[in-house]
Amino acid sequence: MGIERRKFLKGSLLAGAAAMIAPKSVFSQAAESKVEILINEPIGTINPNLYGHFVEHLGGVVYDGIWVGEKSKIPNYKGIRKALVDNLKKLKPGVIRYPGGCFADQYDWRDGVGPREKRPTRVNFWADTNYKAPENYKQLKDGPQKYESNHFGTDEFLSFCKMVGAPAYLAANLRSRDVRVFQEWLEYCNAPAGLTTWSQERQKNGYKDPHNVSFWGIGNESWGCGGDFLPEEYATEFRKFTAWMPTYGVKLNLIGAGPNGGDLGWTRRFFQKLTEKGPGQLNKLYGWALHYYSGSTGKQNAREYTLDEWYDLIARSDRMENLINEHWQVMGEFDRERKIKLVVDEWGAWHWQDADMPAGYLYAYAGTLRDALISGLNLDTFQRHADKVVMANPAQLINTIHSLFHAYEDKFLLTPNYHIFEMYMPHSGATAVRTEFISPRVTFTRLDSARKEVPANFWGLNGSASINGKTVTLTAVNPDAKNARETEINLNGAKIVLANARVLSSTDIKARNSFENPNALVPRNENVSVGTGGKLVYKFAPASVTRLTLTIA
Ligand code: AHR
Repeated sequence: MGIERRKFLKGSLLAGAAAMIAPKSVFSQAAESKVEILINEPIGTINPNLYGHFVEHLGGVVYDGIWVGEKSKIPNYKGIRKALVDNLKKLKPGVIRYPGGCFADQYDWRDGVGPREKRPTRVNFWADTNYKAPENYKQLKDGPQKYESNHFGTDEFLSFCKMVGAPAYLAANLRSRDVRVFQEWLEYCNAPAGLTTWSQERQKNGYKDPHNVSFWGIGNESWGCGGDFLPEEYATEFRKFTAWMPTYGVKLNLIGAGPNGGDLGWTRRFFQKLTEKGPGQLNKLYGWALHYYSGSTGKQNAREYTLDEWYDLIARSDRMENLINEHWQVMGEFDRERKIKLVVDEWGAWHWQDADMPAGYLYAYAGTLRDALISGLNLDTFQRHADKVVMANPAQLINTIHSLFHAYEDKFLLTPNYHIFEMYMPHSGATAVRTEFISPRVTFTRLDSARKEVPANFWGLNGSASINGKTVTLTAVNPDAKNARETEINLNGAKIVLANARVLSSTDIKARNSFENPNALVPRNENVSVGTGGKLVYKFAPASVTRLTLTIA
């Protein structure tokens, strides 16, 4: 801990203690909260892939979220929804993960290439799910969400990635296809034109140049839908799948199917078994995938919740920080050189789907301000751990769970999550710097495991900061639905010459966008005046996510 930071913390703690006992009149003279941005304490470069995405053949994600077909009256680029491409492109997206999720371990990539009319129809992994599926989903007899037409496959997905300028990340089927099928997929994607039979096939399908896919997942959730393996069994499968792979000159970044939330045993036992064969095995892994969803309580409805449920869900989403720290620590027991990083390739808040979406659109909802705060706090968490986390992908891009887009036929909207991704863009590729927040905590009532009401609390302001040349970007979440946070912002003594803010907030904690009113909740820009001597006191609105752009001398 640097001297400056120690001094600040001591000062802040004293100020905090004084604030607790100070009468209101004194309290209002000084800011109640403080943020110290330690611009000289870099954490690491913020990997643009922290702004990654995830596309699975699940509900309305692919059909009709992404793929509307070339003959559709919905504007499209080669069958891919135009509005999605145009808006996603604006975000300069990081890597996009495909085709699942649980679907990946049921999928044979060979079904999804070649002339579309000749592609087979297969049962989708999600056809019989009961998990948060509405009653009428069970009655559905057909449809692309239950019976996969394979009209959208490898080439369509990789074309989509190209259209939006994102790298691709493909997840191999480890449960129901063998190593050879995986290697042929690699060959189809990456072998130079004309060199092998699969690259000739690719050329025949209209793609002469190799796709050069470098990110490959070795299975998905292998502790569950991806094979119900024990960690030791998965480690053995992982070794087999990765013992030899053709590279075709492309650097392969392999990602292991990591834990479900806080299952540290999965991480420890996997690495234990993997390295029984020697420490060299660690060199195979680029990343270790962590999945964590905060499932909503109460009615589990994306749109209907009480104030306590607002706080409860935000607080539970904040578990991400501990999960990163805990798994990182276990990984360090084996990977002393810290070569392997964390990849949070599924995260978000998971509710039931909106009642006005068709039954087949599993987990489709447009999200609210509550989900936007959850996006902000997760992105901030990843950035505070930019030295550990190299990729993160909210589940999922469109029409399911924590999505950025919501679409049905020709209707389309940007969810509040989209706006957070847009607001956070300046962080991508910048250097994350250590930032300390001191603020009164928020209090609420939650139900414990015995469904008894118990008091709870968590931080009242948190976020992250990065620096890029003379520009410092601070993003912060104020979860307090009623109180603004007047905050003194210090930059390790650096003078602020210019400041402006971009804020997503509403007096209605259930604010959201709908097809009828797609711009009900959008960010607003604010001018911010800097005090004498380049000092800044800023009031973070209640229930808000804010980006402050600070130019320093
Ligand atoms: O994102 C939905 C599902 O959640 C994924 O298919 C699976 O990996 C996870 O359990």
